[in-house]
Amino acid sequence: MARIILQPSGKSIACAAGDTVLTALEKAGYALPNNCRAGACGECKVRVLRGKFDQGMVLDMALKPAERRQGYGLMCMAKPLSEELAIEWGTADARPKLFRPRDRALFVITDKRSLTPRVTELRLRPVGQPIRYWPGQYITLGDEEAGIAAKAYSISNASHPDGELVLHIARADGGATSNWIHDRLHVGQRLRISGAFGTFIGDPSVDTPVLCLAAGTGLAPILALAEAALRRGFSKPVTIFHSVKTAQDIYNEGVMAWWKSRHANFDLLITLTQPDPTASSLPYLRGRIPDLLPQQFPDLSAHTIFAAGNPGFVEACVTQAKALGAAAERIHTEGFFSQQQPVLPDADQLLPA
Ligand code: FES
Repeated sequence: MARIILQPSGKSIACAAGDTVLTALEKAGYALPNNCRAGACGECKVRVLRGKFDQGMVLDMALKPAERRQGYGLMCMAKPLSEELAIEWGTADARPKLFRPRDRALFVITDKRSLTPRVTELRLRPVGQPIRYWPGQYITLGDEEAGIAAKAYSISNASHPDGELVLHIARADGGATSNWIHDRLHVGQRLRISGAFGTFIGDPSVDTPVLCLAAGTGLAPILALAEAALRRGFSKPVTIFHSVKTAQDIYNEGVMAWWKSRHANFDLLITLTQPDPTASSLPYLRGRIPDLLPQQFPDLSAHTIFAAGNPGFVEACVTQAKALGAAAERIHTEGFFSQQQPVLPDADQLLPA
């Protein structure tokens, strides 16, 4: 079994045969940022200081040849070849952050409703122990026996004592899982859920203004992060900037308006990206978020940024945020890749249902 050494902390963790470095880190409770888990986004890039590894198949745009020469690798696909692999990651204390995910935990659908013509909300309550998670994480939902592949869906609420999970599921064209959720699932039905996974999480030590950028159902993890921040009395400005195609795609506006009434530090902006004659008198912005950022937030040098949505949206937001002065280490992203499939830990690493 290989060992991964985290520098500068010097902590050492085990990496089982066949595991990627990312999986090994997550099994040990470390939150290495990642999005696609498929070598496509570059989010899990770190510098390897010592040792050999098999990088596997990754896209050049995610790991440029020059970066390879400098020793960088994508940890979602990297597997150690040497007994020790030292990577540059984490702070001096490198503390564990994630909860152990649960495997196929039993839940009941307590409510199901349409939020927009293409988005359904599911409310689920656990039959046994609640799933523990950080706001911003996701679960996986599917039905193996019925041939419905498990897909990742962000949890849209901060954790509640009753363990309720709220999911916002967009109907994907030709998407078997989302169509199954929209058309077949019903209130009272039992479901198996695994999770929570992902590292799109708020850092409790953040003490800067926060700007949350969301496209479509990218709003889900943003809502969980904002709810948790407001609930714990975060005092710096928090703004949600939500992009939808037309007015009929807006959802959760009422709850966010309520947050705005209750919290002087919370603000909400909504923009429509397509012409919508029905909304001509409504007070929404028009256009794409990356194009509107310079006018709305000319200086992002002091902000922490969270961006969630399709990869093109997230990438454009990151580029623009950096151009407006945002520091790379304070930009957190969650891109919904069509090929994204969570790599589940081995069965013995999951808490039983
Ligand atoms: S490239 Fe590793 S998470 Fe996307």
